[in-house]
Amino acid sequence: MKIKNIKVCAFDAYGTCFDINSAAQNLAKEIGENWLAFSTTWRTVQLEYTWLRSLMKKHKDFWKVTEDSLDFAMTTHKIDSVYKIRLLELYKKLSPYPELNKCLLDLKEKNIKTCILSNGSPSLLEELTTNAGVKDLFDDIISIEEVGIYKPDPKVYELVTKKNNCQPNEVCFMSSNTWDVVGGGVFGYQSIWVDRFNKTFDKLDYMPKIIIKDLSQLLKYF
Ligand code: LAC
Repeated sequence: MKIKNIKVCAFDAYGTCFDINSAAQNLAKEIGENWLAFSTTWRTVQLEYTWLRSLMKKHKDFWKVTEDSLDFAMTTHKIDSVYKIRLLELYKKLSPYPELNKCLLDLKEKNIKTCILSNGSPSLLEELTTNAGVKDLFDDIISIEEVGIYKPDPKVYELVTKKNNCQPNEVCFMSSNTWDVVGGGVFGYQSIWVDRFNKTFDKLDYMPKIIIKDLSQLLKYF
C-alpha cells in the first residue's frame, strides 16, 4: 500500500519525534526505580491539563502546563523538589528518536515538505529542534500558540492546510499519540499511527490509515 497525493508530512513532536521519557530517564538514579511511572504521570497529567484548559477556555502555554503537571507528578510520586529545575531543563532538551534524522532527509530527497505540528510553544520547539540538530530539516515548525487552543481542536490541524494551501487529505500526519492520530484523521488528514509503546488504539471514530513501529518504516509507503 502506498500513500498518494501528499503535499506535506506533518509530525507531532512529543512522543513521536522526541522521547518524552528521556528527561526522567536521565535522572533515573536520583529519582529511583519508579522513574518511568513518574514520567508517565507527568505526561498523562500534562495532556489532561491541555484538554481541560481548552474546554475551560483558560489557555496557558505548554511550558507552564508542563511545569504544573511536573509539580503534580512530583507530589504524587514523592520526588524531592530539588530535582525540579533539572527535570525542566532536561525537558527542553529531550532526546530525538534515533531514526528521525534519516526519515526527514529521505522525505526531502522525495521532495515532500515536512513540518512539526505541536502543542509546544514556539520557543520550546525552537530549542528542542535546535538541540537535536533537526531544526533545518523541517520546512516549518508550527505551534498551536498561533490559534491559542490545544490539540485536538480542528483549528490546530487547519494550521497545516492553511499554511500549505492544500486540502486536509493532502496532509500525511504522524503521531504516536492515538487521540492525536484521531484528531488529525477526523479533520481529514491521512493519519499514521507511530505505535512506539504497543498501545491499544482508541475507539473515537477514526482508525489510522497505516500503523508503523517507528519512523524508519515511513518511507516505504511513499
Ligand atoms: C504535541 C504533543 C501532543 O507535540 O505530543 O503536540
